[in-house]
Amino acid sequence: MFKSSELLEKINRHIAEMSWERQPQGLYAPVAYVLSLGGKRLRPLLMLMAYNLYKEDVERIFNQATGIEVYHNYTLLHDDLMDKADRRRGKPTVHKVWGENTAILSGDAMLVLAYQLMEKDCPADYLQQILEEFSRTALEICEGQQYDMDFETRLDVREEEYLEMIRLKTSVLLAAALKMGAMLGGASDEDAACLYDFGMNLGVAFQLKDDWLDVYGDPAVFGKNIGGDILCNKKTYLLIQALEQADEEQHRQLCHWLEAVSYEPDEKIAAVKQLYTAIGVDRLCTQKIAEYTDRAEQSLEQVSLPASRKEELKALMKSLMNRTL
Ligand code: IPE
Ligand code: IPE
Ligand code: MG
Ligand code: MG
Ligand code: MG
Repeated sequence: MFKSSELLEKINRHIAEMSWERQPQGLYAPVAYVLSLGGKRLRPLLMLMAYNLYKEDVERIFNQATGIEVYHNYTLLHDDLMDKADRRRGKPTVHKVWGENTAILSGDAMLVLAYQLMEKDCPADYLQQILEEFSRTALEICEGQQYDMDFETRLDVREEEYLEMIRLKTSVLLAAALKMGAMLGGASDEDAACLYDFGMNLGVAFQLKDDWLDVYGDPAVFGKNIGGDILCNKKTYLLIQALEQADEEQHRQLCHWLEAVSYEPDEKIAAVKQLYTAIGVDRLCTQKIAEYTDRAEQSLEQVSLPASRKEELKALMKSLMNRTL
C-alpha cells in the first residue's frame, strides 16, 4: 500500500507527461496552462487512495484519475468566468489571459477530454458503471453551480439550502472519485457506498473551508484573490450565519453592502470581513468544518477494512481541515 504522498507524486508525474501540442494551440494552450499550475490534485488522489485500499497496481487507473482532474479543471475554467475571478493557483485565470470565449471553448474541450480519459482502458466490467457515475455527478455539479448563482440575488437562503448547494457543486465529485476508485478496485457495494458518504462529508467540510479561506486566507498562499465571494454576494455559510446572528445595526450594515451598486471593492471586502469577525461567524464556520470532518471520520470507520489500512485517508482528511490553500 502506498503513502498518499507517493500516489500524489505518481499522478503529478503522469499529468505532467501529457502532451498538449496538438492544433489549434488557441484551444489547447489554455488546457496545458491550467494543468501545469498544479493544484492539490485532490480528486485523482482520492480515487487512487480508494483503489489502493483494495489493489496495488494503481497505474491501472491513471487514465480515470487524470480524467477526473481534467474534468475538475474544466469546472474551474467555467467557474472563474461565472465568479469573475482573476486569479487561481497564483496565476491569472484563463479568461484573463485568453479571453472569455477561450475559457468557454477550452473548458468544453476539457469536458470531452475528461470523458475520453474516463473511458480509456477502463476495465471493461466497470465501464458502464463508471460512466453512469461520472455523468450523474457531472450533472449534479451543474445543478449545484446553478443554485450557487441563483443564491447570489437572494437574501433568504437557509443553511439547509446552502448545504445542499455545496453538496451538489463540490462534495459529489470528491465522493464519486472515492466511489469510482473503490469500484475499480473491486470493493463491495457496501464499502463503495461508505466511501461515497465519506467523500460527501469531507466535501462539505472542504467547501466550508474554501469559503472561510476566501475571506480569511493569505492570498499569496491560497492562490486566489481574497474577498471574491463577498464581491459576488455569494451566500456562503459565513454570510448566511452573519445575516442570522447580526444585531440590528450590524444587519443594517450588511444589507447596505449587499445592496450597494457603486463602491470600492477593497472597501466592501474589509467592511464585510470586519462584520463577520465582530458577529463571530468565522468561529461558527470553523466549528461546522470540524463537525463535518467528524462525520467523515465516522463514515470512514464503516468501511469494512482494518483501521490501519484507512490511516492514510484519515490523515489526508485531517490535513484538509487545517489547509491554507
Ligand atoms: C477548487 O477546488 C474548487 C472547489 C471545489 C472549492 P480545489 O481547492 O481542489 O482546487 P485545486 O485543484 O487544488 O486548485
Ligand atoms: C467551486 O466553488 C465549485 C466548482 C468549481 C464546481 P467556488 O466558486 O467556491 O470555487 P473557487 O473558490 O472558485 O475555487
Ligand atoms: Mg469560484
Ligand atoms: Mg463558484
Ligand atoms: Mg470558493
